[in-house]
Amino acid sequence: MFSYLISVLAVTSILTWGVVGGSPAASTLYLSQTGTQFSINLPSNSSDVYFYFTSPAFSWVAVGPGTKMAGSLMFIMYSSANGLNVTLSPRIATGNTEPTFAKEIQVEALPGTTINNQSFVLNAVCRNCRSWNGGSLDVTSTTQPWMYAFGPTNDITSDSPSAPLRRHRDYGHFQMDMVQATGEGGVPGPSTSMNGASLIGGVIIDGDKASIIHAVLLAFAFLIMFPFNVALVGFFKTAKLHMWFSGLITIFIIIGFALGIYVSGEYNRSKHFDSAHQIFGFIIIAIFIGVAAMGGFQARQHKAAPATSQPSSNGRREPTKLDSTHKWVGRLLWVLGIVNGGLGLQFSDSPMHTQIIYALVTVALALPLAVVYSCIWRKRKVRQDRDEDRDVVLEAYYATQPKPPY
Ligand code: HEM
Ligand code: HEM
Repeated sequence: MFSYLISVLAVTSILTWGVVGGSPAASTLYLSQTGTQFSINLPSNSSDVYFYFTSPAFSWVAVGPGTKMAGSLMFIMYSSANGLNVTLSPRIATGNTEPTFAKEIQVEALPGTTINNQSFVLNAVCRNCRSWNGGSLDVTSTTQPWMYAFGPTNDITSDSPSAPLRRHRDYGHFQMDMVQATGEGGVPGPSTSMNGASLIGGVIIDGDKASIIHAVLLAFAFLIMFPFNVALVGFFKTAKLHMWFSGLITIFIIIGFALGIYVSGEYNRSKHFDSAHQIFGFIIIAIFIGVAAMGGFQARQHKAAPATSQPSSNGRREPTKLDSTHKWVGRLLWVLGIVNGGLGLQFSDSPMHTQIIYALVTVALALPLAVVYSCIWRKRKVRQDRDEDRDVVLEAYYATQPKPPY
């Protein structure tokens, strides 16, 4: 009985944490589609802000006052490293890019904060935070603009308030009555209805399309188009087709590269262009330009070939140093591009199953290619050996003899 009384008292004190006297004044946003609730309380005797925020545990969930990201103070929550609690991160964005942790904001999670049934539950207080560097909360407004956003489905589990985020899966706008939220201070309680708040427009579906297209174009170019291009030369033995197809690959690579530069500006982890994936990417693009230039020179040499090149004993044009450099650097480029795709997936914190699928597709493509290459190589070796065994003097003698009449 005694222990029952203690637990009832403990639960009651958690639920009424921070409440001075009766229930706190509050305005509440409730999104029935996701079961997201954001309630705010502005104590009339201080400049603190109390809030209760609960939502399904997407990678991250955020709210912030204002109509646009730039200059807004955003309260972002995601899972702690052990997956049992909520990490609360106050951030400010300078534009439509990943917001940066604002360490000067004194916000703290209060008891009762947890992850329960795959949902974040946050009780919090933010001290002296009705104005911040770049903006403020209009406590006299009955229509203070606010915004919310949900992160994509991949996991973030981190205790760091600067954990890297990926762009929202969707976001939206709402307004709240700040006057109704002002009064008795304390964390508002759970609710499943709108009160002193209304949505402005519907939910806007978003996502980082540029990042996906960057990955698809470049991975497709290196994984599929590169080997296909080599196969084209092998099968049709014509440089023209190879040149046209290489032109197509160049278009894929230029667009993929441009999108990579654009996406780099969206995230704190990539805006300084100092990650292994990006540096490696630049090197690969430089080598690609080199290989393309070599191809161009080769094409010119091919045109001038009858006059300048030395035909081999079997009548074919003898490969030049440029030919074999183009071939070998091209092969190296292929391997580097594939490796960098894997680095890209790690860099963007892609789910493990995506990384495994990428590795499996790479192996599935590389194995048959290795078999085909070794067959071609062995065939060439046999032909070379046969050519070397030919008695050139004897052949020259036979060439001078009259042809038999039959
Ligand atoms: C990695 C983090 C984030 C990135 C890269 C990002 C990027 C962007 C981009 C590019 C847009 C423009 C979309 C368009 O015009 O189609 C945008 C809009 C928006 N974002 Fe974010 N965002 C991030 C985090 C957040 C967070 C934490 C919130 C918090 C509520 C938020 C709220 C909004 C809102 C309300 C808009 C529409 C209004 C505006 O254009 O500012 N974003 N975001
Ligand atoms: C061989 C060249 C490259 C390949 C094959 C490649 C491939 C990839 C792949 C597969 C991803 C994962 C995307 C995702 O999970 O959504 C990625 C991410 C990324 N790449 Fe590249 N990439 C290359 C070059 C570059 C270059 C040159 C840059 C910029 C300088 C760049 C910037 C980025 C950035 C910033 C991300 C992270 C995006 C995010 O976090 O959502 N990449 N890349």
